Amino acid sequence: MSVHAKIEFGDFQTPVELAVEVCALLKNLGVQPDTIIEPTCGTGAFLIAAAETFPRARLMGRDINTDHVTQAKMALKAAHSANRSDFRTQDFFSHDWEAEVARANGSLLILGNPPWVTNSTVERLEGSNLPVKENFLGLRGIAARTGKANFDISEWMLIQLVKALRGREAWMAMLCKAATARKLLRFAWQNDGRIAEASLFRIDAKKHFGASVDACLLVARTGANGPAEAAVFKDLASAKPDVKIGLAGRDLVADIRTYRRLRNFEGLCPYQWRSGVKHDCASVMELWRNGGGKMRNKLNEEVELEPDYLFPLLKCSDLANGRTKPERCLLLTQRQVGEDTSGIARVAPKTWRYLNRHHDLFKARKSSIYHKRADFSVFGVGDYAFAPWKVAVSGLHRYPVFVLLGSHEGKPLLLDDTCYFLSFDNKAEAQVVAKILNSAPCREFLSALVFEDTKRPVTVELLQRLNLRAIAGAAGLGEEWEATAEKFPSIKPQEETVQGLMLMETPRKEEK
Ligand SMILES: C[S@@+](CC[C@H](N)C(=O)[O-])C[C@H]1O[C@@H](n2cnc3c(N)ncnc32)[C@H](O)[C@@H]1O
Repeated sequence: MSVHAKIEFGDFQTPVELAVEVCALLKNLGVQPDTIIEPTCGTGAFLIAAAETFPRARLMGRDINTDHVTQAKMALKAAHSANRSDFRTQDFFSHDWEAEVARANGSLLILGNPPWVTNSTVERLEGSNLPVKENFLGLRGIAARTGKANFDISEWMLIQLVKALRGREAWMAMLCKAATARKLLRFAWQNDGRIAEASLFRIDAKKHFGASVDACLLVARTGANGPAEAAVFKDLASAKPDVKIGLAGRDLVADIRTYRRLRNFEGLCPYQWRSGVKHDCASVMELWRNGGGKMRNKLNEEVELEPDYLFPLLKCSDLANGRTKPERCLLLTQRQVGEDTSGIARVAPKTWRYLNRHHDLFKARKSSIYHKRADFSVFGVGDYAFAPWKVAVSGLHRYPVFVLLGSHEGKPLLLDDTCYFLSFDNKAEAQVVAKILNSAPCREFLSALVFEDTKRPVTVELLQRLNLRAIAGAAGLGEEWEATAEKFPSIKPQEETVQGLMLMETPRKEEK
């Protein structure tokens, strides 16, 4: 099998030892299946293990790969279980799973390990192993264009299985990325998916599959709606869960119990959080001082540019490490989104020539947000980007550090789009807000909300829901906050608790 095909079909077979461990765990949980369906059975690791653990169960294997199906069939024959097995070459996407589930006798277990590949990877490989083109989560417009429409094939498969099982008592036990398991649960909890109980048992994907991704065994009992929460176990052998994830409003939180205890910290932030500058052309736009008034870019070119469009720049790693002294500059071509850039030619002719010399790199920017925009356009700019004071945080680090930023050499410090910030006209106000955001209660609340394994744990949506007043009260900063709010009446009161619309799930890129 070619490397491309292996990736397209997520063809990474489960080691039999892991399948045996999973079956032993299911037996311990009291699962006693009459019928086991493995929807993407591959060479049969799970069915081989299940044949041993569940000696009376009927074993059904389906896979798109005929060679795998033949191999799995032979393995079950060798395990003296051929007479209770049924194999078929079957494309998951064109199969009628409702009918298959309806035909299954007695108590049912759907067991396996669907492919861990995303639709965009399959598309990049020009593969066809995809569900019929549909926007299955109902994403539209900008969300689809900015990549939120990227989904895991297994997420789609698991949703189809939950739909097929809807209202039927059964068990599902599937190896998948932890983020996929959470998305499935969120989908089911929000759409009357009738999950009676669910647990996630972490597995070491590096050890078993050589994949650097957080993965788990998702175990769910279907048939009736249960609480919208799931226990998370450290590994397959753990008897006690570490934590419970759960649905809070419209999204999941990493620690539902802590979230419930601190839920009054959720509200409407009286300030507008902003994302830093998005330019997608770092090789040209980011520069280092080289001495003698010259600059060096990422292409290792030495250039001389007028200072007018150069601003000190900080990135998420600077913020996460508390670094406020910028090492690099950003060549900022616009102060407002949509601004005409041709004026640069008059104000700063060297800068204009430099930009035009690299016109092809700007043209090659993939994101469609740059289409039909002025040459050298950027996003994430507005008056707020030039405010004298900011409180900024990295979007990519699990433990947020909120950093107070002023100006540098007479220019406001800018941030890139891996960072979020609030802007202020005066230092005192910014200082109080930074103190509240860095307080222990705020940290505890944030860590209850965010998942360790997401690429961007901190988002604008998340920050926008911090009730600064309530957090300040809990942190012993209530008086300071009230005095600030009085002094700076632009701060709007925030009394109400608003249930979450927190988009915290951005899948990691790694795939096995
Ligand atoms: C991660 S492997 C797991 C195999 C097996 N479940 C195991 O645990 O060892 C994914 C399997 O999905 C199969 N597969 C990929 N796309 C499929 C599709 N559209 N329909 C059915 N099977 C598919 C592959 O052939 C591969 O055997």
